[in-house]
Amino acid sequence: HGTSRINAEGHLEIGGCDVTELAKEFGTPLYIVDEALVRQRAREFMEAFRKTGLRHQVAYASKAFCTMAMCRLTEEEGLSLDVVSDGELYTALQAGFPAERIHFHGNNKTPDEILMALDANIGCFVVDNFIEMQLLNTLASDKGKRVNVLLRITPGVEAHTHEYISTGQQDSKFGFDLGNGTAFRAVEQALAQSNLKLLGVHSHIGSQIFEVEGFRMAVEKVAAFAIEVRAKLGETFSVINLGGGFGIRYVEGDTPLPVGTYVQAIADAMISTCLEADYPLPEIWIEPGRSMVGDAGTTLYTVGTSKHIPGVRKYIAVNGGMTDNPRPALYGSKYEAVLANRANEAPTEVVSVAGKACESGDMLIWDLNVPEVRSGDLLAVFSTGAYNYAMASNYNRIRRPAVVFVKDGKADLVVARESFDDIIGNDMIPERLRKQAV
Ligand code: LLP
Repeated sequence: HGTSRINAEGHLEIGGCDVTELAKEFGTPLYIVDEALVRQRAREFMEAFRKTGLRHQVAYASKAFCTMAMCRLTEEEGLSLDVVSDGELYTALQAGFPAERIHFHGNNKTPDEILMALDANIGCFVVDNFIEMQLLNTLASDKGKRVNVLLRITPGVEAHTHEYISTGQQDSKFGFDLGNGTAFRAVEQALAQSNLKLLGVHSHIGSQIFEVEGFRMAVEKVAAFAIEVRAKLGETFSVINLGGGFGIRYVEGDTPLPVGTYVQAIADAMISTCLEADYPLPEIWIEPGRSMVGDAGTTLYTVGTSKHIPGVRKYIAVNGGMTDNPRPALYGSKYEAVLANRANEAPTEVVSVAGKACESGDMLIWDLNVPEVRSGDLLAVFSTGAYNYAMASNYNRIRRPAVVFVKDGKADLVVARESFDDIIGNDMIPERLRKQAV
């Protein structure tokens, strides 16, 4: 899919680049991002909204994959940006991302993070709780500013997904609960704060969602809330943000919808609910993360050792693993892969792909069909663009891989491979532990 294909030599090619060449040039493990596919997704979201005729913002949820080059691409495609920490905000600002298109999320923004965002004049704060609301109002007032806010509400809609990544149900650390009147009190309080300008509300029902039903339900609940607020407080929302969560294909059997289908369903539900109540159509915002970059990413590894337990299993080990992709260990996530240097050969054996970290749970794929694997082969694992580099770690002091963007036969390094100096860069040896000169 995307620009991936098998070339005449039987090698996997992405963005017009033979991945065996990429391995030689940049080393492995290597994250490869199909730039054209990311841009295509961005355009699909924007185009779907254009068709609805609704005012909109598509904010890329940078938590999925945040680097300066990705921020530049996001800006070029006309998207907004959702950040959840000072680190993501700093990355965006350093990349020159327009502050007015940045939305700041998070359930525990620190005073320093809020000050940084206030100084940068970001477009919107998504306020999660009462303590934050008070703090933001005070800090904004100190700076003589009035800031745009959305209130994150927990609509009580549970998306069908892995429970660790569901954030929309009532028992969640995020947001003001809709069901018990908390969200209503939050609106009253926000309206009473002189340095906050309430634009509307936000809801995020989960991640890796394959149906439109959850989004429809969320729209109906949130719109019903907006209508209630208008009736009781005379206030109308100008923005409703439905969050992210649009699914992607990791393995056969995953059945994501085209991104435009989600947008259309959200828009239809919004339009019909608003028409019925004679409610002015709000601007719709969404925050896709995974669906923007997930299937555009491929991780390239080199196979090293293997272990065959007759009658049980054959393990092959790659030169990365849970340190560059913690998702299988963390969520039991499944992935597909091919031998990238012999992608044209038919599978002859079943292997399980282990990482190199000192932990039995460091397995990337169980039971993968491949041609007979040899040491030195390249393994390409697909759909690793989201929440892989972003969640990578230095466990075992393994250096994080490089990231390249590939497009039209050109490969550009966008994140350098970590160096040994990066690994020890923040280490300090107290005087009393230093080696004494003899
Ligand atoms: N907006 C909000 C408020 C969110 O909490 C999230 C994801 C998104 C947008 C983007 O959701 P997406 O479109 O990417 O599904 N680490 C997990 C995913 C955690 C998602 C957290 N919030 C994983 O690797 O599956």
